[in-house]
Amino acid sequence: MSELNQIALKILSNGKGILAADESNNTMTKRLEAVNVPSTPENRLFFRETLFSSENMKDCIGGVILYDETINQTSSSSKTIPDMISKTGAVPGIKVDTGAKVLANSPEEKITEGLDGLRERLKKYYDLGARFTKWRGVYCISKKYPSKLAISTNAHSLARYSALAQESGMVPIVEPEVLMDGDHSAEDCLSKTSEVIKKCFEDLILHKVDLTGIILKPNMILAGNKSKNKISNEEVSSKTLECIKKSVPNEVPGIAFLSGGQSEIEATENLNLINKKNNTNFIMTYSYGRALQQSALKFWSKDIKDIEGTQNVFNHRAKMCTLATKGKWSKELENK
Ligand code: 13P
Repeated sequence: MSELNQIALKILSNGKGILAADESNNTMTKRLEAVNVPSTPENRLFFRETLFSSENMKDCIGGVILYDETINQTSSSSKTIPDMISKTGAVPGIKVDTGAKVLANSPEEKITEGLDGLRERLKKYYDLGARFTKWRGVYCISKKYPSKLAISTNAHSLARYSALAQESGMVPIVEPEVLMDGDHSAEDCLSKTSEVIKKCFEDLILHKVDLTGIILKPNMILAGNKSKNKISNEEVSSKTLECIKKSVPNEVPGIAFLSGGQSEIEATENLNLINKKNNTNFIMTYSYGRALQQSALKFWSKDIKDIEGTQNVFNHRAKMCTLATKGKWSKELENK
């Protein structure tokens, strides 16, 4: 078993999932201002440290994705943040793309940047303790999109990034996110997401990426958020499994879904159904940002000194998500 495969399995095994706490300062500012908390470096760290020191980190969280600011900060007990995360048994990770920019010659679409100087940045992050990385490509669905251009340029960047991450001893999270924005059908989401993922693997293979040492982070298959034809959770889980089966090579150890704007309960229920039906060899878990943090952030914003109360909210969410990785979640457990 390769070292990269071992890291991937450490992150994904035993019902553990990933806490995506890698919001850029811009995104985190939006989240904090929405709950009337000033977005200072201290407050951003305070909220995140509150989550990282929660009891259920140990049993539920296998990896934490950090943002550049956080990986360079020091905890209130004078530990480095990667050290603090490692002590819980989770693997520290880092977002390494520098964001999605307008795609030249297709200005309504995006290309994710960050390849220039990436080898040097990766070395710095490895030395700080990171053992996995994240890069997010983003695609929109409409009659014309995603274009072949967006699909192939983002796949190329994801493959170059993955090869560099593995070269520096870290597991790349490959995240091609097909957005839920729009009025498209779930069938469109299924066909476009499958096309996007297949192209990513074509390029990963071309770039000789070790597929046993990556984690795929896709969206679930949903109808667009403005679609009149929403599908049931049962259908979401069946279509998501269908997509994964037809587009992901067998060597990949696991899939960690993003929540992508689903509510906490929706994201948990869909993951639970996916795992009830999972007849593949892939581990199917979560790499949630909003669906792990939303309620905790709301609670925290009412009294940022109430660490224990905030941790209780986060502990509950992490536990529910971990039950969903085993197909053992139910709605009744939410109110206990
Ligand atoms: P959400 O779960 O909020 O979609 O965030 C996951 C993530 O890391 C997006 O890049």
